[in-house]
Amino acid sequence: MWLIAGGTGQLGIALGKVLEAQSIPYISLGSVELDIRNVDQTNQILQLYMPTVVVNAAAWTDVDGAEKNEDNAYAVNAIGAANLAAASRTIGAKFVHISTDYVFSGEGNQPWKEDGIHSPISAYGRTKSAGETLVLGVYPENSYIVRTAWLYSPWGKNFAKTMQKLALTNDNKVQVVSDQIGQPTSALSLAKQIVTLVKSGAPFGIYHGTNSGEASWFEFAQEIFSAIGADASRVTPIKSEEYKQIAKRPSYSVLSHNRWAQTTISPMPKWKDALASTLSDLELDSNGSL
Ligand SMILES: NC(=O)c1ccc[n+]([C@@H]2O[C@H](COP(=O)([O-])OP(=O)(O)OC[C@H]3O[C@@H](n4cnc5c(N)ncnc54)[C@H](OP(=O)(O)O)[C@@H]3O)[C@@H](O)[C@H]2O)c1
Repeated sequence: MWLIAGGTGQLGIALGKVLEAQSIPYISLGSVELDIRNVDQTNQILQLYMPTVVVNAAAWTDVDGAEKNEDNAYAVNAIGAANLAAASRTIGAKFVHISTDYVFSGEGNQPWKEDGIHSPISAYGRTKSAGETLVLGVYPENSYIVRTAWLYSPWGKNFAKTMQKLALTNDNKVQVVSDQIGQPTSALSLAKQIVTLVKSGAPFGIYHGTNSGEASWFEFAQEIFSAIGADASRVTPIKSEEYKQIAKRPSYSVLSHNRWAQTTISPMPKWKDALASTLSDLELDSNGSL
C-alpha cells in the first residue's frame, strides 16, 4: 500500500488517480489527517497503515509567502520532510520526497544536473534545499528525491488554469513573463513517472521529474491559448522586472534528465504533448468550474 502525504494538493490528487488506474492500493491524507510537522502523529499514522511506499507531496508551496514566513515554510519543507523520512525508515517503507527546481539559482543557460550543488535564491528554495539534505541524511538508503517544476493540473490553483480562464472569459491582452525559462510539467505526467520509478526498482537518489523541452511562461501561455482555439496574439511578453513578485524567481531552471539514462525508464514526455493530453481535463476541478 502507498501512503500519500499532501494528498489534497495538485500532485497528491494526481498520484491518487494514477494509483487508482493501476489498481494499486493507497491512502491519501491532507494536513488535517497527517500534519508532517507533528512527529508523533506522523509515526502513528505510518504505523497504523504500514505502507510499503510513502510519498511526500506535502509542502509549503506559497513561494512569496515564504519570504516573510521562512520559519513556517522550513517547518513543513525541511523538518516535516525529515519527520516523514524518519517515520518511513522506522517501518522500512520506500520514501519518495518531492523537491523543486528552486533549489538552484537559475543563473546560466545549461540544464541543472541532478548532482548539482544547491544555490537557492528564495526562502522557499532554501527550505526545500534543506528538506532534500535532511531526507538524504536521515534515510539515504531507501529514498528517491524527485525534483519537479512549473506544475499544473486540473486541480487547485495553477498557471495553466489561470491562462485557460483568461483565454475563455474575455478578449483582453494578457501580459506574461518571457525571460524566465523552465519546464511546464503536468502533475498527472509526473505522477505516472513517480509510480513507474518506484515500481522499477531503480537505484535510490535524485531524479528530475519535469516534462521534456523548455519554454518561457510566455510561450507556455501562447501554447495554452492556441491549443484551446483562443487568439494566441493576445498574449504579450513582458520582462520579470515589469512583473513585480516578492520572491526572486530563477531565470533558467531547466532540469537535466541525465539520470533516467541509468534506469530502464524514459524521461517524461515533451511538455507540449503532456499539455495537450491534460488540457481537456483542466476545466474539471472539484467544483466543476474553471
Ligand atoms: N506547484 C509547483 O509549481 C511546484 C514546482 C516545483 C516543485 N513543487 C513541489 O511539488 C510538490 C507538490 O506540490 P503541489 O503543487 O501539488 O502542492 P499544493 O497543491 O500546494 O499542495 C500542498 C499540499 O501540502 C499539504 N500540506 C501543507 N502543509 C502541510 C503539513 N504541515 N503537513 C501535511 N501536509 C501539508 C497541503 O495539505 P492541505 O491542503 O490539506 O493543507 C496540500 O495537500 C511539493 O513538494 C512542491 O514543493 C511544486
